Amino acid sequence: MATKSHTPLIVGNWKMNPATLGKARKLFLDVRKEVGRKKMETQVAVAPPFPFLSELQRLSPSQRIGLSAQDVYFESIGAHTGEVSLPMLRSVGVSSVIVGHSERRAAGESDEEIYKDVQAIFKSSLTAIVCVGEQVRDQHGNYFSVVEAQLRSAVRDVPKTKLKQLVVAYEPVWAIGTGDHATPEDVQEMKLFIQKIIADVFDRSAIKKVRVLYGGSVKAKNAQELLTVGTVDGFLIGGASLKAKEFGKIVHTAEAYAKTSV
Ligand code: 13P
Repeated sequence: MATKSHTPLIVGNWKMNPATLGKARKLFLDVRKEVGRKKMETQVAVAPPFPFLSELQRLSPSQRIGLSAQDVYFESIGAHTGEVSLPMLRSVGVSSVIVGHSERRAAGESDEEIYKDVQAIFKSSLTAIVCVGEQVRDQHGNYFSVVEAQLRSAVRDVPKTKLKQLVVAYEPVWAIGTGDHATPEDVQEMKLFIQKIIADVFDRSAIKKVRVLYGGSVKAKNAQELLTVGTVDGFLIGGASLKAKEFGKIVHTAEAYAKTSV
């Protein structure tokens, strides 16, 4: 029987979707219906675009479906045109923030900014979902050093007392939106590698506190293997999170896994 040390976490990253508030409401209500009302071990969250957050908070007063933000700016207030701060996000019910997504990195976000974002998130007691992942899988295993450098840079100086607020999402860029997910064996290998770095930066007990997710073409049909063989603690889901039924199936797969594993 598989072993599981963490509560599964399933996060839907809606990216720049859907097009309107009306459509976001509908998607959220459909997701809420698919997730259902039964008590679950699995934690579920969605990360909609900023303008939809406060309306979705209204639709989920119990936070059964948590709200996550897709990005944040580390300063808390002031002359920063176009930016959104942690106090703003908290005030509309956000409990976790995705940091360093490859699409933000591609838009110019640096390791240093990601570090500052992570620091700010920990100060505000929210959860940081730190994304790491290589552009390509080369023959020589250089992807390990890419992931290591991103991770060490982002989590250095995180206080040991706050490690439960740290989630690492392994998202190989080549697997995002391509339909070509990493094999469960490769996911497991990278998860162990990430845990080794976490143990090295903090200590071995940190492994029990930090959840490791996988993201990149996760679908209902590959979710089970990625959980059981990949041994990740959940997923960060793009495309499939925009289809309520598909997302619901992944959530229930994670829940069944949480119930059967010890
Ligand atoms: P896809 O699930 O569409 O591959 O996207 C993954 C992702 O980038 C989630 O943050």
